[in-house]
Amino acid sequence: MTAKTMDELVALCKRRGFIFQSGEIYGGLQGMYDYGPLGVELKNNLKRAWWNAMVYENDNIEGLDAAILSNPLVLKHSGHEDTFSDPMVDCKSCQARWRADLVEDSKCPACKSTDLTDPRPFNLMFKTSVGPVDDGKSFAYLRPETAQQIFTNFKNVVDSTAKSLPFGIAQIGKAFRNEITPRNFIFRVREFEQMELEFFVVPGTDEEWHNKWVKSRVNWWEDQGVPESSLELYEVPGDELAHYSKRTVDIMYKFPHGVEELEGIANRTDFDLGSHTKNQDELEISADVMPNKASNSKLAIQDIETKKWVVPYVIEPSAGVDRGILAILNESYEVQELDSGKERTVLHLKPHLSPIKAAVIPLKKNNEDLVKTASDLKKALQKLNLGRVVLENSGNIGKSYRRHDEIGTPLCITIDFDTLEDGSATIRDRDSMKQERVSLDLIPEYLTKVINS
Ligand code: GLY
Repeated sequence: MTAKTMDELVALCKRRGFIFQSGEIYGGLQGMYDYGPLGVELKNNLKRAWWNAMVYENDNIEGLDAAILSNPLVLKHSGHEDTFSDPMVDCKSCQARWRADLVEDSKCPACKSTDLTDPRPFNLMFKTSVGPVDDGKSFAYLRPETAQQIFTNFKNVVDSTAKSLPFGIAQIGKAFRNEITPRNFIFRVREFEQMELEFFVVPGTDEEWHNKWVKSRVNWWEDQGVPESSLELYEVPGDELAHYSKRTVDIMYKFPHGVEELEGIANRTDFDLGSHTKNQDELEISADVMPNKASNSKLAIQDIETKKWVVPYVIEPSAGVDRGILAILNESYEVQELDSGKERTVLHLKPHLSPIKAAVIPLKKNNEDLVKTASDLKKALQKLNLGRVVLENSGNIGKSYRRHDEIGTPLCITIDFDTLEDGSATIRDRDSMKQERVSLDLIPEYLTKVINS
């Protein structure tokens, strides 16, 4: 399985309505993509699976949904204003701008000129003006990671939920980076979505927790249909670590364009809480924090017994939603040769991720009795709240099967003239293509079992 090229996935995504180039009718906007009718379902299902695994399955993890526009002071004290940059070079001949690591043999990748500027840092954060006057002073950043608002809300969450260590705060949301060279479809984009957990622990227990989270995250990707055999762990070398990290392990996936990061799990120590805190001198902070006179909060937690203030260490599993979607689509994609000599494209998505859970298909288009029975069944299945169920009134069973194989619908249910007599319908399984007759009143239970499998 898996696609042979990225182009196969891009074509499927466009043809079936998963993902479109943003602003396509005006020539597109580089590094931006829109999720279509099926893409939004797949994305919501993936995010729900993460939220369930993090927030609902762990009583010591709380959720958050913070603002995207960020006070510049947050990103000054987080270190992003000073350090969140990529080295870039400009081609003096064709004016193209490149990330320095993409330039080989000192030649412009576009026009091959060697007349290039020296590498210089290019900050990746987007700025936007705030308020009616664009004077260059009243501005906000579009957050480059969701993590910072978790840190700045640390005290709010602790005070409102009475949490003690270890505990976590989880957030899913958009983040923005002005990538110099966006590329590889939805892999490297300028607007993307993250699923981030900041897990706060007692200093000294951080290394053990870090290893636990790496294991747990690999297992979770397996549950989403990305097997461990397709993943590699990459120990990020010291000179490549982000400014806040003591150690980072990347979960790497074999994307169609190469092996790259799917999720990073960092030990951010007490760098962020320490950097955002007031009166840093009164606390034991191990990291080389950003000096802070502007904050009005002490982002620490009091040990109930010793009454000592502790600045927790934090372990951060940070996953890209879009990269997850790309890995899952790639892993589930297969073009099969059938005994008939024909081909079928099938997405072997895990049922909980499938954009459509079941298609109910009347054998004959617009036949009143068949459509009524199919419509009643669709309504009953929709009420189960398992995800989207559709009535497929095309009258062309073969075409419906092909479409639903290609978009990963686990079950197609055909209502035929026998259904009107014996109250049963034919259920076709996407992966095996096997068909069986099931009584209409047992179909809700049947579907529930498949989706929760
Ligand atoms: N919060 C980690 C990252 O955005 O890479």
